[in-house]
Amino acid sequence: MASHTAELAGRVAVITGAGRGLGRAIATALAKAGATVVLTGRHAAPLEAAAEAIRADGGQAGALACDVTCEEAVRALAETVRGWHGRTDILINNAGINVRKPVTEFTLAEWRSVLDTNLTGAFLMCREFVPLMRGRGYGRILNLTSIMSHVALPGRTAYAASKAGLLGLTRALALELAAEGITVNGISPGPIATEMNRPILENPELSAQFTARLPVGRWGTEAEVARLALYLCSPEAGFITGTDIVADGGWTAQ
Ligand SMILES: NC(=O)c1ccc[n+]([C@@H]2O[C@H](COP(=O)([O-])OP(=O)(O)OC[C@H]3O[C@@H](n4cnc5c(N)ncnc54)[C@H](OP(=O)(O)O)[C@@H]3O)[C@@H](O)[C@H]2O)c1
Repeated sequence: MASHTAELAGRVAVITGAGRGLGRAIATALAKAGATVVLTGRHAAPLEAAAEAIRADGGQAGALACDVTCEEAVRALAETVRGWHGRTDILINNAGINVRKPVTEFTLAEWRSVLDTNLTGAFLMCREFVPLMRGRGYGRILNLTSIMSHVALPGRTAYAASKAGLLGLTRALALELAAEGITVNGISPGPIATEMNRPILENPELSAQFTARLPVGRWGTEAEVARLALYLCSPEAGFITGTDIVADGGWTAQ
């Protein structure tokens, strides 16, 4: 992970799904760069633990539980952040879930849970946080898209639909906000060994199949994604908007 810098000193960042995995790694990287980070997700305990680890390392972090699928909860989150900091400079829409099964076996509730979390949750966060971002000529929104925004696998109908939708949201919102200095981009990681991929990692044959599909011959790391996120949030990345950066070890080049 990056060493401490002051690149984002004075910036306030809100990260969804920040209690573990990529969200926690990104929150940690932004805090090391001087941002004050607000970690959110459904369960308070992992958020508190992640925030405490950041504070123990000299960073500034707070934790607020929020389910991004709940309109009222997202509104309340934005109000609390407004009360705490008066603004938000960086929003990382990272919260996500996956349900892997053939389309004929999906319940409507399962389909909706994936779309509500991965796509509608990001919409709600953008709607409530863009007003906290406006008026200072700088803002960064990063959406955790996926290689499934670009290509697909069987058994991923809901996930691929949600992530392709998130890429569309990314482009359209970038155009709405470009003139205000607020950039909106996606990061599409290839396979990273997080909780989300536990079903694959626990199946040695399946896990080896994934590795074999990766031209670099290995899975990616949380730190590799966090480093990219940090760059896209930096002042230097102000000319990058409405696009999606794929970090997938060559998966989609084939
Ligand atoms: N890992 C990969 O290979 C990979 C590849 C491409 C894209 N991505 C994307 O990257 C993002 C992070 O993935 P990850 O691998 O770090 O997954 P993860 O370890 O499963 O973490 C997902 C996070 O999202 C939170 N979350 C889930 N539902 C939520 C909700 N309704 N409201 C608020 N928070 C919610 C979870 O916390 P709670 O359960 O406490 O809410 C958890 O902290 C996801 O959007 C994922 O689709 C991951």
